[in-house]
Amino acid sequence: MSRRRPLIAGNWKMHQTAASAAVLVAQIRAAIAPESYADVDVVLCPPYTALSAVAQALTGSELSLGAQDVSAHEWGAYTAQISAPMLLEFGTRYAIVGHSECRGYARLGDDEINAKVRACLQHGLTPIVAVGETHAEHAAGQTIERVTSQIRAAFAGIESAAVEGCVAAYEPIWAIGSGTSDTPEEAAAVIAAMRAAVPGLARARCLYGGSMKPENAAALLAQPEIDGGLIGGASLSAQSFAQIVEHARKAVAAS
Ligand code: 13P
Repeated sequence: MSRRRPLIAGNWKMHQTAASAAVLVAQIRAAIAPESYADVDVVLCPPYTALSAVAQALTGSELSLGAQDVSAHEWGAYTAQISAPMLLEFGTRYAIVGHSECRGYARLGDDEINAKVRACLQHGLTPIVAVGETHAEHAAGQTIERVTSQIRAAFAGIESAAVEGCVAAYEPIWAIGSGTSDTPEEAAAVIAAMRAAVPGLARARCLYGGSMKPENAAALLAQPEIDGGLIGGASLSAQSFAQIVEHARKAVAAS
């Protein structure tokens, strides 16, 4: 089977004002070799407050815009929430759903994550569905059980043809922001289990996230199961982010 098209997404988390975001986009545009876009999809997920500035700074480029979350609802009395139609206004094409930092701080649960995935699909946004186990679950050998349970719940009741167009991301919580990623072999094995758990996910793009950086990206992306990366810290440096995109391009060339 030919490789699925890689996707490299930068999750800026709660970093960048609108003004500094526009500067970072300009740096990223300058750092990524234009020929990369023939083989790799590249997505930037700034904070909501920078979506407009980033959308403007992306004009005429082949980079895509993503959001870090999306409400399960369209409109209504949901203070502080942002809905899919609001995101679409800026040309947003992707939304991260179920990031562990939202599952943790915002007490986001499996049912709501499923509703957010449905809201994305209803409005033509591509969800990037994040799953991952804690350090304690990892140490207890519960990784596969935990991650497959999360991914099944996220896509519950969604037909496989729709799942194929979605993106999933395996982000072990213990690796996020730690400086140390999972091993390429273990990450690939977890992603293989995720694919087996959800009809349609075999054809969907599945990313790895958790301390992916230029130093380890080549080895992670060389795994055929790993279709790209959801990058936190390293996405805030244009040079590091561009180097990861370059590793994705090389992985395609080598396959
Ligand atoms: P880091 O790359 O900083 O570990 O963050 C990963 C992540 O949480 C991306 O969503």
